[in-house]
Amino acid sequence: MTTALITGSTAGIGAAFARRLASDGHNLVLVARDTKRLQEQATELHDRHGVEVEVRTADLATDDGIETVAARLSDRRAPVDLLINNAGFGNKGRYLDVSMADELKMLKVHCEAVLRLTSAASEAMRERGRGGVVNVASVAAFVPRGTYGASKAWVVQFTQGVAKDLAGTGVRLMALCPGFVRTEFHQRAGMGTDNIPNWMWLDADKLVAAALSDLARGKTLSIPDPRYKALMGLVKVTPRGLLGGVSSRTGRKYGPQ
Ligand SMILES: NC(=O)c1ccc[n+]([C@@H]2O[C@H](COP(=O)([O-])OP(=O)(O)OC[C@H]3O[C@@H](n4cnc5c(N)ncnc54)[C@H](OP(=O)(O)O)[C@@H]3O)[C@@H](O)[C@H]2O)c1
Repeated sequence: MTTALITGSTAGIGAAFARRLASDGHNLVLVARDTKRLQEQATELHDRHGVEVEVRTADLATDDGIETVAARLSDRRAPVDLLINNAGFGNKGRYLDVSMADELKMLKVHCEAVLRLTSAASEAMRERGRGGVVNVASVAAFVPRGTYGASKAWVVQFTQGVAKDLAGTGVRLMALCPGFVRTEFHQRAGMGTDNIPNWMWLDADKLVAAALSDLARGKTLSIPDPRYKALMGLVKVTPRGLLGGVSSRTGRKYGPQ
């Protein structure tokens, strides 16, 4: 029996990780801000799968919230074997439409929390000689698109760099880069999604299955869908200057409004 800690477990991709890991028999530590929703989720997963489920209410946009979760990851008496850094959000609007407070909050949740939680988890995992960390980034990491894309690019670079530094210690790290997934993400950010073509949407449960299989195979970067793999292949060979223009035009035409 191993234990997985998932941030942002109550909705979307995090909830899909929780369902899948519980059905595979892992005990869980679930993290989000909404205590009632966390408790309902914990009861449901415990009753359905018979696994132990703890909850930690924490706002990862605050130092207190990050420290609460880091302390749980550092607890040597109750080891966490798998960390899924998944909590995240979008801001509606382009650069200068978004307040500085919201830009900084995004960097805190997407970058600082991921850095501090990855460090707390990996240190304990390295002592035990095993463990895994999945940091949820986005395909937005590969195109020039404001603070969201930049924060996710940091997640990819950081995760792949740390994976190299910790090679041979038994600790595996992987950056997960989904395309559009039907979750609460766009609605929470107040973004309309009517412009996004149907073929671009991914299913959260299938995404998680592909991600866990990539982690088991030792990948440090997972883009779990052939459609997005092909698109990211194109992005790789497109000159950066051209990519900025194309990304901005297609983002305006097909992206969340
Ligand atoms: N959906 C997509 O198209 C898509 C594509 C690529 C990447 N992603 C990434 O996937 C991850 C999950 O997104 P999702 O689509 O599943 O979003 P979602 O359905 O909106 O779920 C977000 C989860 O994160 C939690 N959360 C948000 N802010 C938090 C905070 N400050 N502290 C602690 N927990 C927080 C939410 O619970 P509470 O509100 O209770 O805290 C919720 O459980 C994000 O990192 C996102 O950037 C999403």
